[in-house]
Amino acid sequence: MTNVVQKNILVLNGPNLNMLGSREPEIYGTETLADIKDILVNRASDYDCVIDFRQSNSEGELVSWIQEARGTASAIILNAGAYTHTSIALLDALQTAELPVIEVHLSNVFKREKFRHTSYISPAAVGVICGFGAKSYCLALDALQDILS
Ligand code: DQA
Repeated sequence: MTNVVQKNILVLNGPNLNMLGSREPEIYGTETLADIKDILVNRASDYDCVIDFRQSNSEGELVSWIQEARGTASAIILNAGAYTHTSIALLDALQTAELPVIEVHLSNVFKREKFRHTSYISPAAVGVICGFGAKSYCLALDALQDILS
């Protein structure tokens, strides 16, 4: 008998990512956040993974979700949006969660304004994937398979 252990992947999206599709499509593409969720859930069906996909414009809500992930999630994929470049609170929460974290961005933040080159949350991440649009999320899920196996 095979013992299949399902992994719960918490995918968190920060401020303004609910506007994808109409938000600066030349930078972020035309896919909506719902499209990205569908792509990721579809990809997760190739793996023994369940995707819990959420978005909030509130830093505090994101912190609470990360706190709750400890003990319930196997890993976190996080696009913190602009909080990436400002939030010590998110960094502290991620360091307390003691879970593998992959930081993702749709755009290549290093090709953009200088303030986007600094991430407060990278020190808590196993790795960072940016610049591949919706595919950044799928690449993060792929990377997690090795990390969680
Ligand atoms: C982003 C990049 C951030 O700099 C920006 O504030 C976002 C989106 C991205 O996915 O490319 O909101 O995280």
